[in-house]
Amino acid sequence: MSDREGPGESAEAAHQIEDIEIRLLLEAIYQRYHYDFRNYAKASLRRRLRQARDRLGARSFSALQEVVLHDQVAAAKLMRFLTVQVSDLFRDPSYFKSLREQVLPRLHTYPSLKVWVAGCSTGEELYSLAILFREEGLEERTIFYATDINLQALDAASQGIYAVDRMAAFSENYRLSGGKGSLSDYYTAGYGGAVFDNSLRDRVVFSDHSLVTDAVFSETQLVSCRNVMIYFDQTLQDRAVGLFRQSLTRGGFLGLGAKESLRFSCHVDAFVAFDQTEKIYQRRST
Ligand SMILES: C[S@@+](CC[C@H](N)C(=O)[O-])C[C@H]1O[C@@H](n2cnc3c(N)ncnc32)[C@H](O)[C@@H]1O
Repeated sequence: MSDREGPGESAEAAHQIEDIEIRLLLEAIYQRYHYDFRNYAKASLRRRLRQARDRLGARSFSALQEVVLHDQVAAAKLMRFLTVQVSDLFRDPSYFKSLREQVLPRLHTYPSLKVWVAGCSTGEELYSLAILFREEGLEERTIFYATDINLQALDAASQGIYAVDRMAAFSENYRLSGGKGSLSDYYTAGYGGAVFDNSLRDRVVFSDHSLVTDAVFSETQLVSCRNVMIYFDQTLQDRAVGLFRQSLTRGGFLGLGAKESLRFSCHVDAFVAFDQTEKIYQRRST
């Protein structure tokens, strides 16, 4: 530390160095593996990278970069820190209730439907929608696209096996969402967990797709992208919403997470707030 540097300034310098190292690490991940985290929201990214650095035993982010560049196993482990996989069946039941009561009746007019579950994680949101569409008589005419960048999560989604001790909470969510039967109608015990019915996956295409780097996905009537854009900065959120806008047919619906909105999006004028409380938007028809 120089004579002129106070303790505050050196902490600031350390922070600046950390910023440089993080930028270089994210660039390295992008160059080497084509996963692009460069425009993820800074504060939570920094927190998760610090956890990863400590858990992977690296002294600094530069050291972590060295490891990740040369070791694909370490890179895969880092991915797990960088993509948050928290999810529940019928998470925020009032969202699914609004879809059931307000949105699905409007989808009945379409002879065929495409639904995109973007950032589907381990599949909880997808199964919630598949059950909802079945109960409302729309499943037969629907194809679901379930996409994520985390391949392990996609694999788990395609298996549809969840810990038995999560079922009580899932069942309560299902009930609160206006579920017409019992959640247990949709799964059996097996493989040490609750195995969701194969038939719920019959009309699902699972796909590796990044909202940051990939192109628009099909022509859809409903996009459900919940709790993904909270991890993005404004530029990235605009990119993702731009994809949804392009993907949705006119009059199609976009459902976001409870803490997400289109308020600051450059695409806000392309949508009307269909259910403001549940963060469900409808693409304008003009
Ligand atoms: C917190 S989970 C949300 C799961 C589910 N949608 C829900 O609301 O319960 C966030 C998911 O976004 C995925 N994700 C992160 N960045 C992504 C990207 N660029 N493109 C697609 N999915 C992404 C993560 O892998 C993770 O599965």
